[in-house]
Formats: sequence, structure tokens, C-alpha cells
Amino acid sequence: MIKCVSIEGTAMAKTIKEIIEKKNVEKISMITGYDFFSAKFAQEAGIDLILVGDSLGMVILGYENTLFVTLDDIIYHTRAVKRGADKTLIVADMPFMSFHISVEQSVRNAGLLIQQGKAQAVKIEGGNPLRLQVIKAIIDSEIPVMGHLGLTPQSVYKFSGYRVQGKDVESYNRLIEQARKLDEIGVFALVLEAVPEGLGEEITKAVSVPTIGIGAGRYCDGQVLVYHDLLGYTEQVPRFVKKYTDLHSNIVEAISQYIQEIKKNQFPAKEHCYYAKI
Ligand code: KIV
Repeated sequence: MIKCVSIEGTAMAKTIKEIIEKKNVEKISMITGYDFFSAKFAQEAGIDLILVGDSLGMVILGYENTLFVTLDDIIYHTRAVKRGADKTLIVADMPFMSFHISVEQSVRNAGLLIQQGKAQAVKIEGGNPLRLQVIKAIIDSEIPVMGHLGLTPQSVYKFSGYRVQGKDVESYNRLIEQARKLDEIGVFALVLEAVPEGLGEEITKAVSVPTIGIGAGRYCDGQVLVYHDLLGYTEQVPRFVKKYTDLHSNIVEAISQYIQEIKKNQFPAKEHCYYAKI
């Protein structure tokens, strides 16, 4: 098999084309990443895509929702992720108010995530007519866009909380329609968040690009989870999360052992000390 190499001879990141071609061939794995080590670990594990999600507002910065995250926050974290995973496709989330004011400003902001953040693509929540206009302009500026429908967390106030979407006929049909339109204007993939499994399946069949589910059931073309959720940093997680380990307990246990050993004079031990032959 020929390995794809860049001009410098290092292995290249997966491309947008490779991601699209996985539809109906192989499931796609995506994880969020926010810093050097989360990205490095995800790349080492062989993840297909890393999303620098605006969920960083909650899991990194401790905000109550994602609405306080700025474009500069995403740029800062995307650069760190890039340093940790330079051979993985990196998608940067466009935060609240970075694509709401005008088409021109939205294109400029998407460009900053590519030029300064060093992402290869951006993700945008929503599929209303205004969003479609903005997304089309960004794609026309040669920037790949990942769509995001269903429970779009930036709409938390409008939705009156984090609620499963597409449960009534009107919103079920609207989400299918929006997914079709996003596909038509050329998104390269579509995140579906917190929708009934049947809707996830129907949208997956209705669009030509991969769907990546988070609480959207088993029939999407791929899955994404928040790094801290799947590793068990967070105690309370939504139903759709599977914790693959329990880092919260492990970390608290390790730090508490460290504290105890300091108090009992067990740390540092001889092997942790420096000596001079004077
Ligand atoms: O910000 C984020 O982490 C996301 C994913 C959960 C899809 O948008």
C-alpha cells in the first residue's frame, strides 16, 4: 500500500475527500480535543477527526454553557491541538456570534480559524436560511464546512434547555429538509446531535455526505463524543455518553495519595532527590 506523504516526507493528515469516501464503507470516529495532550492521545489512538468544539467553554473554562466562548478562545485551543496532532484532520467550531452578524464577517472569522488556528475545516451550528447563506459563502471561499443539526447547544436559550430535537412531526421534517439543503450547498459532513435514532437514520440515508452522530443513534456514518465525557472526567453525563474509563476517580485518588505522602514524609523519596559529590 502506498502511504500518503507530504512534500517534507511526513505522513499527511486525512483529507476531507477521504472522510467523505468513508460513507457506506467504514464508520468515522471523531472526538473533541482542546489542548496538546488530548490531541496527541487521540492521534496516537488513530482517530479520524478532531473537533475543537466550543464545548471547551464548559469542560476547559468551566462556563455553564457554550455561549461565552470567543473566536480567540477557539483559535488558541486549535493551535495547541494542531501541535499535538499534526497528522489528523482538525475541525474548529465557529463559536456563538462569530457567524451571526454578516456573511462577510462570518467568512473572515472562518478564515481566521484556518490561517491562525491552523484548522483544515470549520463547523457551524444550524440550518435556517440565514445560516445556509453564510455556510455557502464560507464554502465558496474554499473553506470546508461541517454542518451541525438537532440539539445545537448555541440555541440553548431558544430551546429552553438541552432537549432532544425532532420529536414532533414539524421539527422532524424540518431537520430532514435542513439536512438536505446543507448537503446541497456542499457541507462535507453533518453532525447530528440528540435526535431520535429513526431520524438519525433517515437523514443519513437522505444525504450524500457522512453524518456524525452524538446521541443520534446507531445508524449514523460516524460518532463523536466530548473527550472529557468519554474519559469519565465529568460525573453527570447525558444518556448518549459511554464512559470508557473513570479518570475523575483516578485523578482524585492520585492527587489524594500525593497529599497523604507529603504529609507522611513519604514523598519525595531518595530516588526523587539530587545529590552532589562535594
Ligand atoms: O462543541 C462540541 O463539542 C460539539 C460536539 C459535541 C459535536 O459541538
